[in-house]
Amino acid sequence: MTIKLIKNRVSIFVIFFTLIPVIGMAETGKAPDAKAAKRGAVTFEKYCVACHGKKGIGGIAPPPFLRGPGYITPPTLNGSGHTWHHTDKDLLKTILEGSPRPNTMPSWKGTLTVNQAKDVRDYVKSLWPERSLKCQGPDHMVCK
Ligand code: HEC
Repeated sequence: MTIKLIKNRVSIFVIFFTLIPVIGMAETGKAPDAKAAKRGAVTFEKYCVACHGKKGIGGIAPPPFLRGPGYITPPTLNGSGHTWHHTDKDLLKTILEGSPRPNTMPSWKGTLTVNQAKDVRDYVKSLWPERSLKCQGPDHMVCK
């Protein structure tokens, strides 16, 4: 009886943790939707370009005397950086919740709706070369 119960719990645990990445990465590696990317470009110009630069080239930083402790130069978001190593789900989380590191990327929850955040993510993905798209996510190390 107890062994059966433990077995059941183990199965539920295994199913739960194998399904989570599958559900989470449903869109990862897919080409961005052109219309969504177009809408996202407008949002990007308004809220993101100040730090991430035109077309996500990155590196827009205030002068050193204005940088607080733990400051990180905003990374490039186009295919030349490592943004494409993240899944779609992780990118959405970063956009909505910001970086866990203080004094870096703010949370955009409240400013952007979830759909606007998805659109801006599609815009970011539209800046990547084909290979980055194809190899997006945790497979980037083994993908050819
Ligand atoms: C005030 C400057 C600033 C603004 C504005 C800003 N970001 Fe960021 N962003 C950062 C910094 C700094 C990081 C790096 C955070 C870290 O590594 O902890 C970052 C990280 C990211 C990442 C993760 C990149 C990676 O390769 O891991 C994404 C995606 C991102 N930003 C998207 C956006 C989007 C979309 C917007 C506009 C809605 C935006 N950012 C606005 C400063 C900014």
